[in-house]
Amino acid sequence: MSEHIVIIGAGQAGAQAVQSLRAEGFDGPITMVGDEAYPPYQRPPLSKAYLLGAFERPRLFLKADSYYAEAGCDLILNTNAKAIHRAERHVELHDGRKLAYDKLLLTTGARVRKLKCPGADLPGVHYLKTIADVDALQADFTAGKRIAIVGGGYIGLEVAAVAAKRGLAVTVFEAMDRLMARAVSPQLSAFYALEHEKAGVTLKLRTGVEAFEGDGKVERIVAGGQAYPCDLVLVGIGVTPCDELAVQAGLASEDGIVVDQNARTGDPYIWSAGDCTRHVGREGHSIRLECVQNAIDQAKHAALAMMGRPRTYAEVPWFWSDQYDLKLQIAGLARPTDTLVQRGDPAARKFAVFHLRDGAVAAVEAVNAAPEYMIGKKLVAEGKQVDAAKLADLSIAMKTLA
Ligand code: NAI
Repeated sequence: MSEHIVIIGAGQAGAQAVQSLRAEGFDGPITMVGDEAYPPYQRPPLSKAYLLGAFERPRLFLKADSYYAEAGCDLILNTNAKAIHRAERHVELHDGRKLAYDKLLLTTGARVRKLKCPGADLPGVHYLKTIADVDALQADFTAGKRIAIVGGGYIGLEVAAVAAKRGLAVTVFEAMDRLMARAVSPQLSAFYALEHEKAGVTLKLRTGVEAFEGDGKVERIVAGGQAYPCDLVLVGIGVTPCDELAVQAGLASEDGIVVDQNARTGDPYIWSAGDCTRHVGREGHSIRLECVQNAIDQAKHAALAMMGRPRTYAEVPWFWSDQYDLKLQIAGLARPTDTLVQRGDPAARKFAVFHLRDGAVAAVEAVNAAPEYMIGKKLVAEGKQVDAAKLADLSIAMKTLA
């Protein structure tokens, strides 16, 4: 008899697993459980074009509504999984249902970190992770309103760019001394700070939030010992992996469900993929990646492994961010000790920063510079030695360096 695969988490990784299982010839029943009201959708547009109003909701969905039924996948939405009973091999749902599985895939993703300061629960304090979050934000997201953004990371800055474009007065409060410190080099942080300021955004660096105040609704943000009036707040201070189900079932989690290079957990019948996982990356270090690339590639590997055809997952991680008319593309994982080589002039709003380690490109950050990104990503994958002077020389075409 065909095996039953159960997938918990109906996001990018879950949807990819369904697609890959069918594409690779798995013909048994699949059940996917999601706690949101919607079938799997793309999250990247949420803080960009969808928030701007330039992206219709139907385009967010990864597949047509009819896809799951056609693919023989029973999609259970609006439903939380409560527990995994590993010995009996079934998943207990919050509504009391029990789903017996032969193989289980956890694609539970991550949830937003919440602020715990006084006033954090006031109406008007928003987070951005789901379609419902964006819809809730839209009502007040109108020209002339003052938005306080907490966190100068990807979410905060993408929302800042959209808000500035929509005519809101924007102030970003960032705890660190530079923007996107988790994700980019100081050069990129400085460039983006300038671009945001040019667009009229006020940046408050090294400024942690102490409280929100207001009468029945947020009216002020208190940060760095000062009160700033505001009409709404958007908090983007990072995410934490949704690993409770795994932990309660006795699976290892170290700020991310621990999986091997075939996306398998310590249980021979349970795999996991996407933002919720931690794995040993291609450089031999334990990492937790928060990106679409990892959700897609790790889910592909999980699907193959569940079918008994494991393949080592060692793809180059990549990320992107759209702010204003700037496309930031990053490949590889930088380290503070890397030697940085700049190619092109930030003032031209088209440049790249290469991170060299032991003479090879370990990561590339490219702004409006597709060839630098494409070839840079290839160089990261190949790990070949490169000449730093040639890399910096705009008169030498990138393709000759590959
Ligand atoms: P993030 O980690 O990118 O940025 C969080 C920022 O908040 C950091 O700069 C941090 O220093 C700051 N911060 C933390 N605590 C703070 C506090 N109390 N007060 C002020 N600042 C504080 O996380 P973000 O932007 O929330 O994004 C969430 C997730 O969404 C991440 O997984 C991210 O990768 C993903 N995402 C990715 C995008 C992309 O790749 N373009 C776009 C949007 C989101």
